[in-house]
Amino acid sequence: MKRTAIYPGTFDPITLGHVDVVTRGLKVFDRIVIGVAENPKKGPMFDLETRLTMVRETFADNENIEAVSFTGLLVDLAHEHHAAALLRGLRAASDFEYEFQMATMNRHLDERIESVFVMAREDYTFVSSRFIREISEMGGDVTSLVPTPVLSRL
Ligand code: PNS
Repeated sequence: MKRTAIYPGTFDPITLGHVDVVTRGLKVFDRIVIGVAENPKKGPMFDLETRLTMVRETFADNENIEAVSFTGLLVDLAHEHHAAALLRGLRAASDFEYEFQMATMNRHLDERIESVFVMAREDYTFVSSRFIREISEMGGDVTSLVPTPVLSRL
């Protein structure tokens, strides 16, 4: 039986920080299902289909990574894919409060699914999708911060 984790996020767009989290997650889990959330309230820059395509293209050569989109509850997605855990990355202490609330709420919703956190590589602690969007909109260079499928679309 393969040990599966769901790695959820908005991925607007996916960054090398996200890629680092997935790579670390694969040291612990056999299979990672990346759940791209619709999150319309966040008013994403890229539509859901494009965000999903960029994630799929990024991991196209790894058969242990799958990407799906979802609109409902994360715990339901975890069930659907027989996942034992939810994977998230932590960059700095400031991430903790939000992650703690989310993990606690998800545990309230489904006691069986654990939240597991990995710490981002130092080079990516300052990288966020929000900064990537902002910098690229203002003509800045994000080449070293995003995977190729994102670069070509920014
Ligand atoms: O990359 P993000 O924007 O921090 O990811 C947020 C995400 C997708 C993990 C969060 O919005 C989410 O879990 N959405 C699904 C809805 C849900 O299950 N909500 C209850 C858990 S708090």
